[in-house]
Amino acid sequence: TQDQIRDVVKYAADRYINIVPEIEMPGHSTAALAAYPELSCDPSKTYKVYETWGVIKDVYCPSDKTFDFLEDVLTEVMELFPSKYIHIGGDEVPKDAWKNSAFCQKLIKKLQLKNEEGLQSYFIQRIEKFVNSKGRSIIGWDEILEGGLSPNATVMSWRGEAGGIAAAKQGHDVVMTPGSAGLYLDHSQGKTNEPLSIGGYFPLQKTYSYNPTPNVLNAEQQKHIIGVQANLWSEYIGTEAKAEYMLYPRLLALSEIAWTPLANKNFKDFSETRLPSQLAWLDKNNYD
Ligand code: ACM
Repeated sequence: TQDQIRDVVKYAADRYINIVPEIEMPGHSTAALAAYPELSCDPSKTYKVYETWGVIKDVYCPSDKTFDFLEDVLTEVMELFPSKYIHIGGDEVPKDAWKNSAFCQKLIKKLQLKNEEGLQSYFIQRIEKFVNSKGRSIIGWDEILEGGLSPNATVMSWRGEAGGIAAAKQGHDVVMTPGSAGLYLDHSQGKTNEPLSIGGYFPLQKTYSYNPTPNVLNAEQQKHIIGVQANLWSEYIGTEAKAEYMLYPRLLALSEIAWTPLANKNFKDFSETRLPSQLAWLDKNNYD
């Protein structure tokens, strides 16, 4: 309920944490399409809420109906979350439904867009305009580069660093969170004796060794890297204890790579001198 959200926002704010809400679009939206098939490009189809994870071909149709709906949702979200940034997703959007839609093909011609990537860019830009009109800013996953970035968008680079580097070079702000560099904490942190997870092998050292300000950027461009983030997707996480198990101690390494100048980073000191007291604190406070 709205009251529950207010409660969570306050709990976080009391601890100096700002929650950035993410409303996914135009993909990862089958729950909305199941409830409102008229927001899809083929309302005659039956849409089902997905019961497992994946990349799903059914996406919002870029119609006025969809924009009215999303503006309504975002208005409610912005009333509840004071965050300057509103995350609008933008990742993993198969273009099949738009390719097969007469409405979309006509819209591409009318707007003189190149292709479906251009349509995705149109979609995000239209949403950005709305969010900006309310005094807020959008963040999107690096796919929002495809077809051209929205003028004021901040980019979250998850498919490696390339998207973040390209965005910073274009003068856009960036949050680095490349899965390939140990920042996806839903991946395993050990080779053996680990609980079921989405896989991978990203130990503490890997997370610690990540440098969020790539050398290929000059000093001016590096200023656009406004932060670094780790993601803990919860497909394989059913309990709070397991979430804690996956987060720690890699979350502590994330903190260091966020706040420590490169020249001061030292894994030996981190892991042998400072980490043990942190681990003792976590144990004492019953973290898993
Ligand atoms: C993502 O992990 N799909 C952003």
